[in-house]
Amino acid sequence: MNPTSSSAVRVKVELGPRSYPVLLGDGLLEGLGPLLREQGMTQTNAFVLTNAQVGALYFERLEAVLRGAGFTRVVRHELPNTEEAKNWEEFTKVCSAMLEAFPDAGAVPLVFLLGGGVVGDLGGFAAGVFRRGVPFVQIPTTLLAAVDSSVGGKVAVNFGGVKNIMGIFNQPRLVVCDLGLLRTLSDRELRSGISEVIKYGAVCSRALFEQLEGDGARNLDRLLAREPAALIDIAAQCVRLKAAVVAQDEFDKKGIRNVLNFGHTVGHALELSADYALTHGEAIAVGMMAATRLAAALGMVPRDFAPRLQSLLERAGLPLSHRDAPGLFERIERTMQLDKKFREGRNVFVLPTGIGQWQQREDVPWDTVHAAVRSVLV
Ligand SMILES: NC(=O)c1ccc[n+]([C@@H]2O[C@H](COP(=O)([O-])OP(=O)(O)OC[C@H]3O[C@@H](n4cnc5c(N)ncnc54)[C@H](O)[C@@H]3O)[C@@H](O)[C@H]2O)c1
Ligand SMILES: [Zn+2]
Repeated sequence: MNPTSSSAVRVKVELGPRSYPVLLGDGLLEGLGPLLREQGMTQTNAFVLTNAQVGALYFERLEAVLRGAGFTRVVRHELPNTEEAKNWEEFTKVCSAMLEAFPDAGAVPLVFLLGGGVVGDLGGFAAGVFRRGVPFVQIPTTLLAAVDSSVGGKVAVNFGGVKNIMGIFNQPRLVVCDLGLLRTLSDRELRSGISEVIKYGAVCSRALFEQLEGDGARNLDRLLAREPAALIDIAAQCVRLKAAVVAQDEFDKKGIRNVLNFGHTVGHALELSADYALTHGEAIAVGMMAATRLAAALGMVPRDFAPRLQSLLERAGLPLSHRDAPGLFERIERTMQLDKKFREGRNVFVLPTGIGQWQQREDVPWDTVHAAVRSVLV
């Protein structure tokens, strides 16, 4: 399909000189060459970071597209397939591979990040520090990366038991979401992305939340069935919401960008403490339930919020709780205190105050936090 065909959607992330387009559609990969040139990217060297699974599926297609667009060198580097790959050691291996392949300052590569959030986060960080920054293009291959991690320029690796603690802000030049690539994604990973979609609805957009709820949840079923029109429509709404937040608070200094952390204070801690038994989206689903209980305990949220959120998460096949295990609560508590937003002895919580609305709170008493965390460990 031609990327300029009517079913493709273009969203601009407005960041002055760092602005860039996000393209969403089915079959966009084949049209990547003209898009790059249209965006002024004239390089002929490419460094493609992917992982073993995604590389086996899509590297050759991407390579053929790049060669067709005039790239004379296309270097491939792969990460391991899981979240545990998002670490300092893999990051330095990527830096070594870039330096080894492109030692000449006159032959700087354009970096392509072909994969999910792990490839995008680690690769965006490496692209930002190699030679003080080389341009990069995000080609998200998971729903989660398409709706969230590939847009906004937060790139990082996990370190010292803390999620995303080593990182920078580094915006891509272009994001190409070929949602056709999601056909090979497992149902579990698709649901993980839907968790972030529900997050956007729950705290950023009543319209999106109600669209997901509506029509006997047929909209969710259409997403789960990977119907291209549904994927493009919903993903584009999420990207527009994210672009608006990022445009107002690119460097996370004004508190506005915190909205995207709904469910993440407990979710991140659970993701790490449960030794990655949950995907990121699953951990965030449980984290959203914990944050909702917290908001309810503080009398901040109308009574119907929790059952509506719960019902959407259940319909999407996402967990509402996680099985308790000896020492798990204590590990979560310790990890929450290592959260990158932990300051002056308090966690920052993004709490819902109604569908599509939120408030940040830093003054939540520990016993209230404990009760909310315990409530999601069963
Ligand atoms: N930077 C941000 O703003 C931001 C936002 C949200 C999440 N994140 C980060 O994103 C990460 C999670 O991203 P994710 O959910 O994409 O996980 P992921 O990158 O680990 O991908 C999930 C799995 O899906 C497989 N996969 C990817 N694309 C596939 C495809 N098309 N077909 C078949 N298999 C495929 C991968 O091999 C992997 O095993 C977390 O580290 C999280 O912290 C970052
Ligand atoms: Zn997330």
